[in-house]
Amino acid sequence: MQILTAVSSPILTYRIAKEIKAKILPTERKKFPDGEIYIRLLEKPENDVVLIQNTYPNEGIIAAIIAMQALKSEGANDITLVIPYFGYGRQDRKFLDGEPVSAEAIAKILSVYADRVILIDPHKDYIKEFFDVEAKVLHAYETLAEMLYPLDVDLILAPDAGAVDRAKNVAKILGVDWDYLEKRRLSGEEVEIKPKELDVEGKNVAIVDDIISTGGTIIEATKALKSQGAVNVYAACVHGLFTNFAIHKLAQLSIDDVRVTDTIEGPLSVGSVAPIIARALV
Ligand code: R5P
Repeated sequence: MQILTAVSSPILTYRIAKEIKAKILPTERKKFPDGEIYIRLLEKPENDVVLIQNTYPNEGIIAAIIAMQALKSEGANDITLVIPYFGYGRQDRKFLDGEPVSAEAIAKILSVYADRVILIDPHKDYIKEFFDVEAKVLHAYETLAEMLYPLDVDLILAPDAGAVDRAKNVAKILGVDWDYLEKRRLSGEEVEIKPKELDVEGKNVAIVDDIISTGGTIIEATKALKSQGAVNVYAACVHGLFTNFAIHKLAQLSIDDVRVTDTIEGPLSVGSVAPIIARALV
């Protein structure tokens, strides 16, 4: 089995390759002056290949398609496409008339070349059904728990009732309590955390979520928890997008630590989903 990334995940690919003792397929990539991307395989691929590629940012979708086209035309017969962060996953249904189900559109296109797909914490698990090939969802519960373990957390909180499964599972691994906040989204950037009686006085509390995008959710949750007497507030999320100067905003807040995984590689990616992906590949 060989492994490669097109553009998004060189560090995660290296970590998975080490775990499963697979060879990294050498590739070359560049960008044309008009912004188009170019990928070249520098060796003939083996029959079974694993491509690790995010569908974020937009370029990642094109990179996945053209890398798989090259793999198939150069002789790979079996491509496992691992999508650590499935971009466009939040448009997983039609909210207003005339809107696309973007997650479905992308899944269908990727199914043209991929033989199977592995998704890590997509926005909704049912996204896997949009693929025309076998698709599996993996959850990064153990990575979130590992990142939080040294912080001596007393309580795990989900930002809303829809995300309690993650909080429950992480809390179970750490052997601590869990609860959830009540969030209402006001706009793409603004959220409101409704006051809710939680017993956080004197406690170390961690908010766990799938995505940090603008940071709005974490910022409002931190303010609410600190005002209710939490001693330390931490955030552990799977996918750290950090859009719209989110890191700047978080750094100015009284949050005590923010930790994300390497599904999107960045400065706050202190945990790795490599062991979870590796187990699914062997
Ligand atoms: C929402 O459904 C997600 O689970 C996240 O809570 C959300 O995407 C976070 O976005 P932001 O950081 O912009 O509040």
